Amino acid sequence: MFDSGLGGLSIVRALIDLVPSRDLVYFGDTGRFPYGPKPADEVAKFATQITEVLLERDVAMVVVACNTAAAVALEQLQDHVDVPVIGVIEPGIRAARSATNTGRVGVIGTVGTVRSGAYQRAVARVAPDLEVVCCACPGFVEFVEAGDIDSDQVHVLAERLLAPLRAAAVDTLVLGCTHYPMLARTIGDVMGRDVVLVSSAEETAFEVDRLLAGPNPTAGPPSSAPTSGEPEPSGRHSFVTSGDIERFRTLGTRFCGPEVADVEAHQW
Ligand code: DGL
Repeated sequence: MFDSGLGGLSIVRALIDLVPSRDLVYFGDTGRFPYGPKPADEVAKFATQITEVLLERDVAMVVVACNTAAAVALEQLQDHVDVPVIGVIEPGIRAARSATNTGRVGVIGTVGTVRSGAYQRAVARVAPDLEVVCCACPGFVEFVEAGDIDSDQVHVLAERLLAPLRAAAVDTLVLGCTHYPMLARTIGDVMGRDVVLVSSAEETAFEVDRLLAGPNPTAGPPSSAPTSGEPEPSGRHSFVTSGDIERFRTLGTRFCGPEVADVEAHQW
């Protein structure tokens, strides 16, 4: 799995909770975040480089746990990589379709994600009955990477950026950036109790489990429920960052859990 930084840990958490025995390698490109403001071809190049690093570790699947990278590079990676590659955009839309009553759904993401039109295309493909309103939230990712998820400053920014979605009267809001679940309390306070916040984390974890437990996994044991009442044994969870290791460990433990214990450095 990879992301520009800590955001994809929201998917890691969901996957470990669903299938604790699955081995995983997470790459956080903290040394080069944020991806959101960068040109699409630069983000696609980063996504290809990280995928190569993961493939060197014999992974059975690659999860692009970053909406910005998935928006511009998912199809290209799927065409060129021998293992399954999945993104987080369609899973997020499926989660929204289950949650909405009115069919009026908001999507927030980075500038790159919203500019790419990837959500609008995916909605047309998998849930054409939904009416979506997309809105970029520049600055949210930087707050999360700084460890600030509930200060007055982030609240003020959220009030300003989310105003169009409040005006649009959506009943469901897709957190279309894997960093945003870390800001769920602030975003929820601003949107109000009547708006359901959905992330792609659980749906993506289900998809990983479904695909790897299917007929042709290229590596790793298929997941199975423990049969004897014993807890499922824990898999190996490895974390790699292109940025500061200590910072990744500290914030990763806070956002994801004690699994983020050993963090390796990657030098580009
Ligand atoms: N977590 C990434 C995403 O889902 C954030 C991208 C960024 O670094 O701006 O889009």
